[in-house]
Amino acid sequence: MSVSPPKLVHVRRKSLPLLNKTSYVKSFMMDRRAKVAAGARKLFETEERRRRGVLIRDKQQAAHNRKRLPGPLRAMARKVLRSRTVKRVRRWFLQPVPGFETYRAHLAGKRGLEIGGPSGFFADDGPLPVYRVLAGLDNCIFSPETIWEGEIKAGRTFEYQPKKEPGIQFICEATELKPIQNSTYDYILASHCLEHMANPLHALDEWKRVLKQDGVLLLVLPHKEGTFDWRRATTPLAHMIEDYRDEVGEDDLTHLPEILALHDLAKDKAAGSPGQFRQRCLENSLKRAMHHHVFDTPAALHLVDYAGFDVIRTDRIKPYHIVILSRRR
Ligand SMILES: C[S@@+](CC[C@H](N)C(=O)[O-])C[C@H]1O[C@@H](n2cnc3c(N)ncnc32)[C@H](O)[C@@H]1O
Repeated sequence: MSVSPPKLVHVRRKSLPLLNKTSYVKSFMMDRRAKVAAGARKLFETEERRRRGVLIRDKQQAAHNRKRLPGPLRAMARKVLRSRTVKRVRRWFLQPVPGFETYRAHLAGKRGLEIGGPSGFFADDGPLPVYRVLAGLDNCIFSPETIWEGEIKAGRTFEYQPKKEPGIQFICEATELKPIQNSTYDYILASHCLEHMANPLHALDEWKRVLKQDGVLLLVLPHKEGTFDWRRATTPLAHMIEDYRDEVGEDDLTHLPEILALHDLAKDKAAGSPGQFRQRCLENSLKRAMHHHVFDTPAALHLVDYAGFDVIRTDRIKPYHIVILSRRR
């Protein structure tokens, strides 16, 4: 139904001195009417614009819905895609990264510790499926409840691979592995964790302590180019050395202003609105979702080398993974 806009009344007001009292009141009233009409027209136009906007949005939504499967079919498709058979077929077709043999050879039949596991990256349908070759794997998470893992329990509860005995779940800071003795593990796995730590050299120092002589570290870090950090500058090694020297704690918010200004929220749907993202960053000592530091491949390699590890192999895996296999010096 189309509604015609109210008519605008144009009134030319004569200059006041020439008007008598009656014509002045008349002119004043007409002026008022003109103003009211103009106001009504503006309101109408705004309403009309809003209505058209809604119509366009409705049309876009309808076009989007037309492209989607109907609800029940969508649910069925989701169920099929998540089924065991489809996962098995996918696994059969998926090839691990070239050079997988080197990673496999350094980990097969050994016992280790993961920081912030489990990781899809190491699972059977991930790019580096090393879980299946391990003899045992324990895990460390900073809190009994996190935004990634939900609720977890300490003890032998860490399930990382079907049909393998669960490993020990430690609930402690990755920078303070107090329940673990020196030289306990053959290897450490850490996928997309170290960037969440305010003092990465402190963490690497502690990981070295619990590694046996010649133990290996398999580290995966996000390459800034492929992530929401792409606008931020790569963190210089000197900065992380300073953090280590100043004994910066995990409640540090030094990078907060830079993160709030440069984090690309369009590439981070899970972070929600700018307000929600800001709140999550302010609560970082509880949530740990913030990327304190930003890496590219040379920066990651310098850090590992400075921390006292000899690099064995490195790979860049699309879309944004830097993978470094290194041995404790
Ligand atoms: C982005 S998630 C990565 C999860 C998984 N590794 C993966 O690749 O999908 C970061 C992980 O690091 C853990 N984490 C972050 N800071 C930690 C800290 N200071 N100590 C122990 N775990 C930490 C979190 O609990 C979470 O499991």
